Amino acid sequence: MAKRKVNIALIGYQFMGKAHSNAYRQVSRFFDIDVEPVLKVICGRNETKVQAAMQQFGWEEYATDWQEVIARKDIDIVDIGTPNNTHALITQAALRAGKHVLCEKPLAISVEDAKASYDLAVSTGLVNGICHNYRFAPAIAYASQLVSEGKLGKIRHFRGQYLQDWIIDPEVPLVWRLDKSIAGSGSHGDLNAHLIDTARFVMHTEFKSVSGLSETFIKERPLLADTSGGLAGFKASSEKGAVTVDDVTAFLARFDNGATGTFEATRLAPGRKNYNYWEINGEKGSIVYNQERMNEFQLYLTDDPDGIQGFRNVQATQSFMPYMSAYWPVAHIIGYEHTFINMIKVFLDAVAENKPFSPSFLDGYRNQAVLDAVDRSCISGDWTIPPH
Ligand SMILES: NC(=O)c1ccc[n+]([C@@H]2O[C@H](COP(=O)([O-])OP(=O)(O)OC[C@H]3O[C@@H](n4cnc5c(N)ncnc54)[C@H](O)[C@@H]3O)[C@@H](O)[C@H]2O)c1
Repeated sequence: MAKRKVNIALIGYQFMGKAHSNAYRQVSRFFDIDVEPVLKVICGRNETKVQAAMQQFGWEEYATDWQEVIARKDIDIVDIGTPNNTHALITQAALRAGKHVLCEKPLAISVEDAKASYDLAVSTGLVNGICHNYRFAPAIAYASQLVSEGKLGKIRHFRGQYLQDWIIDPEVPLVWRLDKSIAGSGSHGDLNAHLIDTARFVMHTEFKSVSGLSETFIKERPLLADTSGGLAGFKASSEKGAVTVDDVTAFLARFDNGATGTFEATRLAPGRKNYNYWEINGEKGSIVYNQERMNEFQLYLTDDPDGIQGFRNVQATQSFMPYMSAYWPVAHIIGYEHTFINMIKVFLDAVAENKPFSPSFLDGYRNQAVLDAVDRSCISGDWTIPPH
């Protein structure tokens, strides 16, 4: 029997636009899903570029006005991959138009807007999801499973670092990620947001209180002249402007389950390209993960016999581990794009069966609440409490 078609509209065609487009195209090649995703329309402001993206990524149509796209009767899912300050606006308009929504992180650039998107999603009953794709890395999903099965016992520590160096050169111009009015925050919202989601996901608990510090080392940069040249092709103008976001934000945390946590995000760590590293320590063992080696994790168990104790390298590619039966034989590794394919599979399942998707807008709101509490602490110097 022919599968029900679900028509997708994707807003944004660059980095995440590419990752999401690829996921919609690939998902049915690997997973058996009950609906057929149709890459209906991709949207962006620059007609020449969005038309090229339509052709390269395999969309049926392109558009330059997201409001017109959302008003279309034939669209079932709106997928949002635009800069952060547009997320709440597009999300809420799409929900009001009766569309299921998958939104890139963050859900909004303020905790109030994130709460409004969450409340609206609940009131509409539509499927809603926030793109914390790292949850869909098999190693992370499996680590979360091991913790919930009690393999590490009671968890005492989460230790996360997300380090990059792409703005180490002071001549890197003021792209939108360095503008608070568009991005909301810098390394914090961009990178700590991922660690915050991972901590909640692998420890199955909520943040109780936080204490943060942040710094902007490079306070002025050239204005952006042009973005032609793709993801890395920024062109600088001779004029300068102020950097309005943090270069680094670090914080301490206490969790509802009694664990303590340390978090550090920076985009000024020379040599660190996309170093998304975390470890958890429980009373019976530890798990260590580094996204740059995403097909494995290190496991230490205190019950191992004397003499052979030590961290072991666990291949996260075995077929019984989350998502892996859809891919290759053990140790035939997968990559970054598969986290999106796995996420889209689960999202389409949710749409097909009209059931909740996780991570949902509630997770997006809670993430924003932690980011916001850290921001408040950075200013006041006090410990702060994110609302639950
Ligand atoms: N999940 C992840 O790991 C991950 C990774 C990177 C980015 N992101 C998130 O994805 C979002 C997009 O980031 P990116 O790196 O793809 O950015 P980008 O700058 O590469 O692309 C942004 C896209 O949005 C389009 N756009 C901007 N304003 C628009 C508007 N008003 N109407 C229609 N289109 C508009 C641009 O034309 C472009 O196509 C951000 O919110 C970011 O936080 C998430």
